[in-house]
Amino acid sequence: MTKQTFYITTPIYYVNDVPHLGHAYTTVVADAFARFHRQRGDDVRFLTGTDEHGQKIERVAEEQGIKPQELADRVVERFRELWQRLGISHDDFIRTTEQRHKTFVQTLWQRLQDNGDIYLGAYEGWYCVGCEGYYTEKEIDAGRCPVGHNNVEHRREPSYFFALKKYQQKLLDLYDRQGEFAARPVKFVLPDTRLNEVRSFVAGGLEDLSISRTAIRWGIAVPGQPEHTVYVWLDALANYISALGGLTGEGFRYWPASFHLIGKDILRFHGVYWPAFLLSAGLPLPERVVAHGFWTVEGQKMSKSLRNVVDPHFLIEAYGRDVVRYFLLREVPLGQDGDFSHRNLLARINADLANDLGNLVSRTLGMPKRYRDGVVPDVAASSGLGDATTATTRAIEHAMLERLQPHLALEAIWSFVNDVNQYVDRQAPWELAKRGETATLDALLRELLFAVEQVANWLSPFMPDTADRIRQALSGRQLTTIAPMFPRLDAATVEAKLAEVQNLATAKPGNIKPDEHAKEKTAMVSIDQFFETQLVVGEVVAAEAVPKSNKLLKLGVNLGETELRTIVSGIAQSYAPEALVGRRVVVVGNLKPAKLMGIESQGMVLAGEGQDGKVHVLSPAPDVPIGTRIK
Ligand code: MSP
Repeated sequence: MTKQTFYITTPIYYVNDVPHLGHAYTTVVADAFARFHRQRGDDVRFLTGTDEHGQKIERVAEEQGIKPQELADRVVERFRELWQRLGISHDDFIRTTEQRHKTFVQTLWQRLQDNGDIYLGAYEGWYCVGCEGYYTEKEIDAGRCPVGHNNVEHRREPSYFFALKKYQQKLLDLYDRQGEFAARPVKFVLPDTRLNEVRSFVAGGLEDLSISRTAIRWGIAVPGQPEHTVYVWLDALANYISALGGLTGEGFRYWPASFHLIGKDILRFHGVYWPAFLLSAGLPLPERVVAHGFWTVEGQKMSKSLRNVVDPHFLIEAYGRDVVRYFLLREVPLGQDGDFSHRNLLARINADLANDLGNLVSRTLGMPKRYRDGVVPDVAASSGLGDATTATTRAIEHAMLERLQPHLALEAIWSFVNDVNQYVDRQAPWELAKRGETATLDALLRELLFAVEQVANWLSPFMPDTADRIRQALSGRQLTTIAPMFPRLDAATVEAKLAEVQNLATAKPGNIKPDEHAKEKTAMVSIDQFFETQLVVGEVVAAEAVPKSNKLLKLGVNLGETELRTIVSGIAQSYAPEALVGRRVVVVGNLKPAKLMGIESQGMVLAGEGQDGKVHVLSPAPDVPIGTRIK
């Protein structure tokens, strides 16, 4: 029997920005599905990559004074690195600047043209650089784009058009599984709200689509018309086939994709344009497009500054990659928006990981050692958990194959974990040991070891490292206990970690892009607002390194008050502690105290980054006395 193919894709990410939590989310979800299907024995192809053409990238490169290709070459490494750190198991990584991609884009163009669906016209409209897309007069909102709320600009240019209008009925049939699509086994778009969204967009009437640009140089040339570049979305969408080696490539057997996983922001491109292009090219349509929701951070939109506290690298370092994966997969149903909060993350770590799973694993591995010198005879296992095991396997399959809901799969696993924990309590192996009922005890221990192994297998698509660690611990004949996999965290530790990133993020002006500087300039404060901040002259009288932190110093600062202030400052990489003692500084005197690495910091020392990349503390002239309020 030939294996079933399973082809899953993520969006290809723009290289004008470094990867953030939103990108990590899409990619982790896709990875869980890919691993799940591999584990079932399917022939899996998992694709991710980068979208490197277009005006957005051209502009950012220009701002940085480098060539677009150079920008792409730099940023692509950030994506590759993050995927590696997150344990992403993609089979291929496509870049739209690769030759294999360019070749296929031109083939696709040719196909649309041969089918009579491309004609030359002129395009006029409101263009949003952020979205790389035009909006109609109706759609724009007071001069701003309806999606990202960026300014839009009016444009007119000669352009090739794609006869999108012609596909209106076919698209509606596709969404409703009517006509030639009556036999489609599944809905084309998930969740239903998103299907309704594309259906009403298409039912409302389609305009032909502008698919070439003359104003943009950074792109793929239209075949035979090099002054035109291919519209970046036609270019980008083609990646899903170009990565397979095009229509004649060996990889083409994976087409059509089982599903394209995307964020809800790019639904129209995948739910409307892409199937229309494929219909025109006479190519099979993907089975489905699955749109997930958006993450906010601590209840707010993920602005650049907020992003620092959920920087995927920071999260991986602070909590471990499996914890990050678990949280992203478990916290929200696929398709819904979610909020990333460190407190919720902490709750998940302590309840689900440290308590439920951690306990089960450590007690199960501990018992053989305690009661049987680490060796459990190879006896037949008891079977009290049989039904729960079968039911869990079914629930996971249903979640991953029918519902496409990893959180339900994880819920099912955790419900089993809790069942087993209760089962252990009911069976009371310690009683069996006390009473010397060794045969019953051995059968029970065997069963529990199987159960834990089973949990590891179920977990492996979601938390591959954890699964490996458990299986490793189970693999020897002589069982050894393993160190707690998920130590409990207390809120203070998390606060300290958070404060550290926040502190570093604000202390590093290099993190701020030019447009944010501009925003800062225009955001005026009144004199009264300014006076709310008390800037006071002080003297550092003591300084020491903060243990386990290579960024922080603990300072004792004399502000002319009765007691010294303790101030924790992120300047350890620029100053040796002794170099600061005796130094005059300016302190924000009325800053709310915050705990950094467990130490309460009662203020902030003003400093700025110099050309040398080091932080320099601000020093007032020597004749300004300690305690002077700066105005
Ligand atoms: N290059 C296009 C996609 C082309 S696909 C043929 C693009 N790139 S992007 O870099 O902007 O990434 C968009 C994707 O990142 C979204 O579709 C979504 O998957 C993910 N996210 C970006 N911000 C997000 C959140 N705040 N929350 C969740 N996911 C988000 O669009």
